[in-house]
Amino acid sequence: MEGRIFGKPMITQEEMRKRIQELGLRIAQDYQEKDLLMIGVLKGAFVFFSDLARAVPLPLHVDFLVVSSYGEKKKSSGAVKVISDTTQNLKGKDVLVVEDIVDSGLTLTFLKKKLMARKPNSLRFCTLLDKPQRRKTEVTIDYVGFTIPNKYVVGYGLDYENKYRNLPYIAVLENVREDA
Ligand code: IMP
Ligand code: MG
Repeated sequence: MEGRIFGKPMITQEEMRKRIQELGLRIAQDYQEKDLLMIGVLKGAFVFFSDLARAVPLPLHVDFLVVSSYGEKKKSSGAVKVISDTTQNLKGKDVLVVEDIVDSGLTLTFLKKKLMARKPNSLRFCTLLDKPQRRKTEVTIDYVGFTIPNKYVVGYGLDYENKYRNLPYIAVLENVREDA
């Protein structure tokens, strides 16, 4: 990919495919008798979300919201902002929020509070990647694809300065300082 050369993937396309199938079947079992609404958190979750939704053999609803996260650099501003909101009524729905990565946990905590106020029947969280070493707040994640070490990763929807989201696997971005 232009700009940077990525070495060995941290998580390959094949590993991703297998894990997402497993998650999809687990979610389908858990939501069999429910009215599932999957909400993708953009932009980062767009690739994972489309794979996961297709791996859940249930007649589910989909919706999206766009949140601001790290801006152009990797450093979090701390404050999470909703740039574009969901369009569907959450009341009575069984909502599953789909994230690309949980890092500090601030986004998840913010979304939990915001979405709970809309009185869903239930609210759970699913993330492709979990970076538990950088947590600033305690969070519960119901479905985790992969737990990864404290490295800055790109691909599969995840970006660095808005690039590399289309890389079809997860790679570590080397030689870039990790902000504390
Ligand atoms: P939070 O710190 O848990 O609130 O995560 C905020 C957001 O930071 C995530 O949704 C990602 O968009 C972004 N982020 C955190 N770690 C990484 C990474 O390693 N690569 C790319 N984006 C990341
Ligand atoms: Mg994100």
